[in-house]
Amino acid sequence: MAASVLHWYDLDYPFSSCCNVKTGTWIGRRPQKLTAPFKILGLLSLIAVAGSLSCSSSKGGEYTVSAYFSNNPESSDTKDLLVKKWTLPELKAMKQVTTHEKNPLTGGVAKWVGVPLASLIEEAFKEIPAEKRAQVDLIILKNDEGKQALVPLFFSNRYPILIALHKDRMGLPPNMGPVYSVVPWTSKPKVLGESVPLESYFLSKISKIELTNYQVRYGHLFLKRMTDPAAVRGQKLFVQSCVTCHATGRGPTVEVVAGLTEDQQRKMLESGTHPGNQSGIKLSPKDLRALMSYLKAYQQEKLVSQHGSALQFLPKSLGGS
Ligand code: HEC
Repeated sequence: MAASVLHWYDLDYPFSSCCNVKTGTWIGRRPQKLTAPFKILGLLSLIAVAGSLSCSSSKGGEYTVSAYFSNNPESSDTKDLLVKKWTLPELKAMKQVTTHEKNPLTGGVAKWVGVPLASLIEEAFKEIPAEKRAQVDLIILKNDEGKQALVPLFFSNRYPILIALHKDRMGLPPNMGPVYSVVPWTSKPKVLGESVPLESYFLSKISKIELTNYQVRYGHLFLKRMTDPAAVRGQKLFVQSCVTCHATGRGPTVEVVAGLTEDQQRKMLESGTHPGNQSGIKLSPKDLRALMSYLKAYQQEKLVSQHGSALQFLPKSLGGS
């Protein structure tokens, strides 16, 4: 079984590719690149390893990437609808694409080979009815460590995000593999002008692709009163550029962010140390004003609703109704 998923160049790294494929982890230290005579030995030992099942699926089975459709706000995985599932060999059997992009971890340009995210979305879309397809405006890439990347559908339609399976002719290293999303920020520099947190779209060990909807999933962040155009614009910016960290545990909660003074918010958003700015968000002065209008409106609505509901339960003497 293990042998069926090997590529010719995996012979350079027989142990790594075997264990990468099966468990997503490396056994022992990363093997040295083998020279020709040792490749034969490598091949033999690979067969031995495959035969002795030391790389078999003892750690919970074959690695898969699943696509889900979700239209429930709780985002409870069990309620999501499984649409499509790919094993690694299936992903590797799809049409492979090569790109050269900067590696966000080292800054050097690497060669990535894999499947376009758009192809996976297209395959998944074929499995769901048109009215559900029409609801999808957000793609959430997830891994089993609880990390996620929130990619707007418009972005993945406009720019070819790669679901990489190989880097520089090898399987992916353990901190990325076996499946890693790569944004075309070197080959398509236009993407840098999109003011989205590009760096947060690079996600390691992807196991789940969720097809969902901003309003459904982050409805609690949407204003009830859409009266201020600046706040509405800020809301759109916030869900596209900020929730990927501030509603997923990668940054302070929206409540905390909205609870700061405007000065504190501005200071953070103009600072080079804010992880959002480091991940590629560029805000114009107009964007900044819009975001702060949104946060202020959000905070006010929260206060009103908290007061309203809390007062109902207080005795009259304490100000209740
Ligand atoms: C890549 C992840 C990431 C993105 C994207 C991001 N942030 Fe942050 N943000 C953080 C983290 C992490 C902190 C905490 C930094 C610290 O404490 O030094 C933070 C802090 C803040 C703070 C200060 C919070 C505090 O308690 O002091 C504000 C305000 C803020 N972010 C607003 C935003 C807005 C608005 C956006 C969207 C335009 C955004 N952030 C996008 C990760 C992110």
